Amino acid sequence: MKPDTYHKLKQLDHAYLWHPFTQMQEWMGEELCIISQGDGHYLVDVHGRKYLDGVSSLWCNVHGHRKKEIDDAIKAQLDRIAHSTFLGLSHAPGIQLAQKLIEISPKGLQRVFYSDDGATAVEVALKMAVQYWQLKGETRRTRIATLAESYHGDTVGSMSLGYSETFHRFYTSLLFPVLRLTPPHVFRYYHGLSESGALSAAVKEAGEKITAEKDSLAALVVEPLMQGAAGMWAQPA
Ligand SMILES: Cc1ncc(COP(=O)(O)O)c(C=O)c1O
Repeated sequence: MKPDTYHKLKQLDHAYLWHPFTQMQEWMGEELCIISQGDGHYLVDVHGRKYLDGVSSLWCNVHGHRKKEIDDAIKAQLDRIAHSTFLGLSHAPGIQLAQKLIEISPKGLQRVFYSDDGATAVEVALKMAVQYWQLKGETRRTRIATLAESYHGDTVGSMSLGYSETFHRFYTSLLFPVLRLTPPHVFRYYHGLSESGALSAAVKEAGEKITAEKDSLAALVVEPLMQGAAGMWAQPA
């Protein structure tokens, strides 16, 4: 790309965009990395420089860029139709994917409700849990339990569950209260204990808090295996 075009793009980026989770003053002071292509596990910028894509679209791109099978399937679908709603209508790919998802899901999960992204999937799950108990007649069951320092996205319900001081402090007036359990983290919460000692202590504490709230809880929401945004806290086996 010609230097003039790069500088024009940089100017427009700085004039028109907010980047997510980005300190914009610092962003304005840095060189801008403008990606133009993907190639397997690499990103390529407008100057032709290659980067190993460790971020992988926030860890969602597990197969790499321009994977032929995926791109061909997307192109074939675009030749039929780009989008049609599930409200009042259905379509073959959505039906077939739902069947495949249920086949590989833990026993007991029987139906798929499609959502847009991680945060709205959490919103849907919250609503399903609360609605379930209302319809069962247990109308006090509206509270949600979560782990301290968990992260579940940036919509209002997801922020309420996964509150992070750094990201969410400006929105506390919008958030609903939840029951927070302590993760078994030996440096952060259970100083001086072994990993198994911290686990026992955390399970005991969670048991007591959950028992005390047992008639008001609708659901427990956790990040599976790893609390990512907290700082890659792996849960003990
Ligand atoms: C555990 C977890 N839940 C939810 C989300 C939110 O997903 P999205 O950014 O697709 O809304 C993230 C995003 O990083 C996440 O790590």
